[in-house]
Amino acid sequence: MLCGRYRNGKLLLLSFVLLLALCTYVYKRHGKPTKSHYNVMVWWSPYEKQLDYHRKCGDVECRFTSDRKAQRDLFFSGYLFHGRKISIHDMPEKRKIDQYWGLYHDASPKNAPFLLHGLDIFNLSSTFSRHSTVPLTLQSFTTLEELINYKNMYTFGLKTSFQKKMKLAPVLYMQSHCDTLTGRELYVKELGKHIAIDSYGNCLKNKTFPDGITNDSMDINDVQNFYDFVSKYKFIIVYQDMICEDYIADKFWKSLSLGIVPIYFGAPNIRNYLPNPNSAILIDDFATPSDLAQFILQASNNEDLYTSFLYHKTLDVYPISNQLLVNAIFKEDIFYLEDRKTRGIAEFECTACVQSFHQEKQQSQQNELSCELPFFPPGNFTWKALPRIRKFLERARMEAAIMHKMAGVSET
Ligand SMILES: *[C@@H]1O[C@H](CO)[C@@H](O)[C@H](O)[C@H]1NC(C)=O
Ligand SMILES: *[C@@H]1O[C@H](CO)[C@@H](O)[C@H](O)[C@H]1NC(C)=O
Ligand SMILES: *[C@@H]1O[C@H](CO)[C@@H](O)[C@H](O)[C@H]1NC(C)=O
Ligand SMILES: *[C@@H]1O[C@H](CO)[C@@H](O)[C@H](O)[C@H]1NC(C)=O
Repeated sequence: MLCGRYRNGKLLLLSFVLLLALCTYVYKRHGKPTKSHYNVMVWWSPYEKQLDYHRKCGDVECRFTSDRKAQRDLFFSGYLFHGRKISIHDMPEKRKIDQYWGLYHDASPKNAPFLLHGLDIFNLSSTFSRHSTVPLTLQSFTTLEELINYKNMYTFGLKTSFQKKMKLAPVLYMQSHCDTLTGRELYVKELGKHIAIDSYGNCLKNKTFPDGITNDSMDINDVQNFYDFVSKYKFIIVYQDMICEDYIADKFWKSLSLGIVPIYFGAPNIRNYLPNPNSAILIDDFATPSDLAQFILQASNNEDLYTSFLYHKTLDVYPISNQLLVNAIFKEDIFYLEDRKTRGIAEFECTACVQSFHQEKQQSQQNELSCELPFFPPGNFTWKALPRIRKFLERARMEAAIMHKMAGVSET
C-alpha cells in the first residue's frame, strides 16, 4: 500500500519532469513568450574585463554580461565580441543554429586580421564601415566646436615665426610603429629627402620634444601642452597603417581641429569626409614624394595658399561646405565626446539584443568592409613592404578559416 503510493508519487514526478522538458522544448523552439520580453547576451570577449548590466531596448529587457555561465540561461540568445579582444584560441564551442553573434570593433582591422575574410561569421557588426549594422565611422571625430573653433590654432604668421625661432620643420611626423603594411616609414623617409620633417615618434625619430612635453600620441584628449606644441606646425603626416573605406584615424580629425594641415594617406573615400574640398593634402594626388614635397614647400611659404586649407577654421559663414559631413556631425554632436564610445556600445548592444530576440534573419557580409591590400601611394617607393603584407594576408586567411570552422559557417 505504502509502496504503491510511493510508486505513484514517483510516476507523478516523472510525468511532471517530462512535461517540463516538453514545455521547455516547445518554448525554445517557438520563440519566447511575448509577455516576458527578456533576453540575455554574453560578451564572450568583452570590451571591459567584467561587466553585467541590464538595458531596456525597445520592448525588450536585455541583460549583457561577461559571465560565460549565463550562456546556460534559458533566455540566452547569443554572443557579443569585442574585435580587439577576440582570440582564435578562445571561441565558443558548437554554435547552435539560432545563436546570434555580434561584432563590435572600433579599431583598425589590423588588430583582428581574420576580419578581412571572416566577417560573415557574425549576424551583425559595428565597425568603422558605413555599411555595418551600427556604424562607428565618426567615432573618433572630435566635436563640431573643436573643428571650427579658431582658438586652438596659430595663424600662418605665428607659425612662420615659430619655425624660425624654435627651428621647427614645416612638417611634423609622430609615429611609434614602423614596419607598417602600407610602407609608411619607407614613404616618409623618401619624402624627408626633399623637405625637412621633424619626427618625434620611435619610428624615424630625429627630434625630441622640448622639456615638459612627453607624449607622442595625438589620441589623448586632455593634453593641452602637447597640443599647443604640435599646433605650431604647419603640416602633419597622417599616413594610416591600414587602408579601408571609411576607416579614418583619430589623428586626422585631431589635426584638423588643431589647425594643422594633414598630409593624408588612408581611406580611399576620404574626400567624402573632408570639411572642405581643400582640407587636406592627399598623398595620392602626387606622382612622387618629391612632387609632394615641392607642393608642401610652396604652401608653406604662401599665406593665401596655406590658409585655403583651413577654411573650416577661418571662414565665419559656412566654414564647412561638405553638407554630408555636417548632417552626420549634427546627428552625432548632440552628445559630448566622452559619451560617444559608451553610446556606440549601447546602440550596438540594443540592436543585437532586439534582433536576436526576434530572431531576425541576418548575416554580416564580407563586403561591408572594403579594405585593400596591398595599397601603396604612387611612385613605388614602398614596395619593400610587400613581404609583410603577404605574411599578414596569409595570417588573415588562416585565422578566418579557423573562425569559420568554429562558427559552423562554410567558407565563401
Ligand atoms: C630628419 O632629420 C633630417 C635633418 O634634420 C631632415 O632633413 C629629415 O627631413 C628628417 N626627417 C626624416 C623623417 O628623415
Ligand atoms: C601621455 O599620455 C598618457 C596616456 O597614454 C597620459 O596619461 C599622460 O597624461 C600623457 N602625458 C602628458 C605629459 O601629456
Ligand atoms: C546568424 O549568422 C549565421 C552565420 O554567421 C547564420 O548561419 C545564421 O543563419 C544567422 N542567424 C540568423 C537568425 O540570421
Ligand atoms: C617597384 O620597384 C621594385 C624595385 O625597383 C621592382 O622590383 C618592382 O617591380 C616595382 N614594382 C612596380 C609595380 O613597378
